[in-house]
Order: sequence, then C-alpha cells, then structure tokens
Amino acid sequence: MTEQNQSTSAQSISAQSTRKTPWQAAVLTLFPDMFPGVLGQSLAGKALQSGIWSLDVTDIRGHGVGVHHKVDDPPFGGGPGMVMRPDVMAAAIDSAAQAMPADARRIYLSPRGKQLDQALVRELSAASGVMLVCGRYEGLDQRIIDQSGLMEISIGDYVLSGGEMAAQVLIDAVVRLLPGVMGNPDAHHQDSFEDGLLEHPLYTHPREWSGVTVPDILLSGDHGRIATWRHEQAKQITRDRRDDLWQKWLLSQPSSDGDGKNSNKKPLK
Ligand code: ADE
Repeated sequence: MTEQNQSTSAQSISAQSTRKTPWQAAVLTLFPDMFPGVLGQSLAGKALQSGIWSLDVTDIRGHGVGVHHKVDDPPFGGGPGMVMRPDVMAAAIDSAAQAMPADARRIYLSPRGKQLDQALVRELSAASGVMLVCGRYEGLDQRIIDQSGLMEISIGDYVLSGGEMAAQVLIDAVVRLLPGVMGNPDAHHQDSFEDGLLEHPLYTHPREWSGVTVPDILLSGDHGRIATWRHEQAKQITRDRRDDLWQKWLLSQPSSDGDGKNSNKKPLK
C-alpha cells in the first residue's frame, strides 16, 4: 500500500447510530484483524452494533516507508529489538485524527504508563472518544510520544507482547459505563472500585448448595440491614486483600470528630 491510499488502511466499524454522538474509539495497530475481537461480543458488541460507540481501526503498516512499508528500525545507542519509527507513527496518527473529535484523548498503551483504574475509566467514558496507539517490538520512539501528546496508560505491572489486548481492556471497561449499555443503569454503582471498596460477595439459587447455605440476612427482606451487611463485607474484603485501596478508603472517610480530617489512618488489621 502506498502513502497516497492510506485511507483504505482504515477499517471503519461504525454501526447504525442510535445516538447523535457515539463514543469514538480509534485504534492504531499493526494487527488490525485483532479488532473488534472480544469487543464484537456480548455487551460491547451489542453497543457497537447499536451505535453507542464506534470503532475505527488504522493499520500502521499502511503508513510504513519504502517498498516494504517499513515501520521500525533498531534503537540508536544499541540494545535489543526494534523501535517504531516516529515518521510512520505521525502519519498514522494524523490519518486517524481526521475521523476523531479534536478533544479525543490520545493514549499510548505501555507498561510504563499510569495504571488504568476505575476513576480513569470513568474520566475516559466522559470524553468524546479515545485514540489508542498500540505499540509492538520495544515500543515507540520517544519523540512521537512527546510531540503527539500521548498519555501513556498501563493495564498492570506485567509486559504484554503489544498494546492490542490492553486497548481492548480499556475500551471494554469504558463502554460498559456508557449510557444504554448496561441493562440496569444502577448496576455499575455496585461494582468493585466504584466507591473505593472491592465488591461484597454475591449469592443466588439454590439456597443451600454443597452443604453451604446463603447467609440468613440476605433472605430477611430487610434492605437496610442487607445494605449494611454488604458494606461491612466490602470493607472486610478490601482490608484483607488490598491494603493500598483500604488505606485510600480510610483517608476518604469523614472523621468522626467532625474536623473534616480523618484521624483513622492506621490499618484495622
Ligand atoms: N503493552 C505491553 N504491556 C502493556 C501493559 N502492561 N499495559 C499496557 N500496554 C502494554
């Protein structure tokens, strides 16, 4: 593919719109066939079909240089692997940007980035859309990260072979928060992390299974007591499993001495 027919390298998967402004995701990748991938199924897939969000995939290779559409070169200064060229990435980003709102967030999925959490997911769901740059090899030339204002986001402290799965994780987490995606719009208020705590345990039929019965309180019909029980369980699970979240939650609580500061800073373990 030549640099003149770059637009044919973008595969647009924008469905019949039921909203005037779908949340727009643009993905730049060397592996366009990985999309929509899991995002074409279940909640995200239905929302894509109904036009709640749209997906535009740009094949970075379509912007490669020379007869072989080269996209990478060895790192200056030596070292293993290859680095994605800034000129190629700039052409791919400029091309993808044409179909995006000017205020869409520009993101590079990278293990070096700020860790994705529910607060950042919520923030991205309120934006008009995101442009997601997926790296391969050793990563992107630093100049394109700086000049395109790419925010680096990581999905965890481990290294994937590329940003594509991280992009799908990010999109899935955002899309489920978009209006009209969840059957019950209140459901995500109970999610883990929404109030800074991990979610309480859940039970369903049968009432007794494998010799274990559902906690009595859940069968009581007393919604006030059930809510209190669930909150206490959420606190206990968070305290037991995630001291980092627990300490943050403690600090976010109003103090009982009424001075607006939390005096309860010690772990309750
Ligand atoms: N690319 C490679 N590893 C990654 C990670 N942990 N998060 C986001 N993008 C990545």
